[in-house]
Amino acid sequence: MTNSKSTRSTTILPHLSQRWLPVLIVLLAVTTVACRQDMHDMARHEPLEESDFFSDGSSARQPVSHTVARGHLQTDRLMFTGIGDDGQWASDLPMELTAEVLARGQERYEIFCTPCHDRAGSGRGMIVERGFKQPPSYHEERLRQMPVGYFFNVASEGYGLMSGYKAQVKAEDRWAIAAWVRVLQRSRSPITSLPSEDQGILTSIEGAGDAIGSDSHDDSDDEGGSGDEESHASLGSSQPTMDSAPRTEVAGADGAAL
Ligand code: HEC
Repeated sequence: MTNSKSTRSTTILPHLSQRWLPVLIVLLAVTTVACRQDMHDMARHEPLEESDFFSDGSSARQPVSHTVARGHLQTDRLMFTGIGDDGQWASDLPMELTAEVLARGQERYEIFCTPCHDRAGSGRGMIVERGFKQPPSYHEERLRQMPVGYFFNVASEGYGLMSGYKAQVKAEDRWAIAAWVRVLQRSRSPITSLPSEDQGILTSIEGAGDAIGSDSHDDSDDEGGSGDEESHASLGSSQPTMDSAPRTEVAGADGAAL
């Protein structure tokens, strides 16, 4: 008797589960989804949404006064604005100028600035080729005369249509970029604009003497940002190509003046 009972139950059970299993699965699925629904509808506020929880009616809170977010203490005016103690654009970096700084500056410049300014700084980058406003050439006289702190500031805050790069590029790197902009400018200046000891080094290099002799460039002739690139034979084509950025030898740059 016992034996026959157990045989019956084993035959019924598979039958039952076959019929009810799909129902069970659907039921489970529905109830599990329902459980997660709470998470989807969790109480939250959109940015700037109002709320009656706080007395000022805003759901967002002001930063606690007299506190500074970690990593945002920027007390060094020169480092973060490009303005020196005298209230003028700084004419030196806030850190030592080394070959590493210039190499870093070139690398960052070529990532963040070339899309518009191109590798040689003439202002004919790819985005400009596609219709964006053409920036002035770094080689125009007005910009050649600007102190390095000015380039740091433009890289940080932007200028006119150009947006600033504070959010993407840290301050040290913006200084390195500013130093590289100066290198680009120097690369197209006549040798005679260099300090005499540097002229001496350059003229001792074979062929450089000819460049001094033949350089008819005078400081006023590329005012306006267009024009005389062709006269700078040493840079090759006036189009910004892979080769047109000066491969400046930075190894001896340590301590050089900006
Ligand atoms: C998306 C294009 C774009 C990028 C990228 C860009 N710039 Fe510019 N930049 C411009 C334009 C356009 C102007 C001219 C703005 C105007 O006159 O409205 C300009 C102007 C400038 C000027 C000249 C300011 C003056 O006094 O005339 C400097 C210097 C400069 N940019 C530096 C940089 C540096 C450094 C970077 C990289 C960190 C950079 N720019 C990245 C588009 C760009």
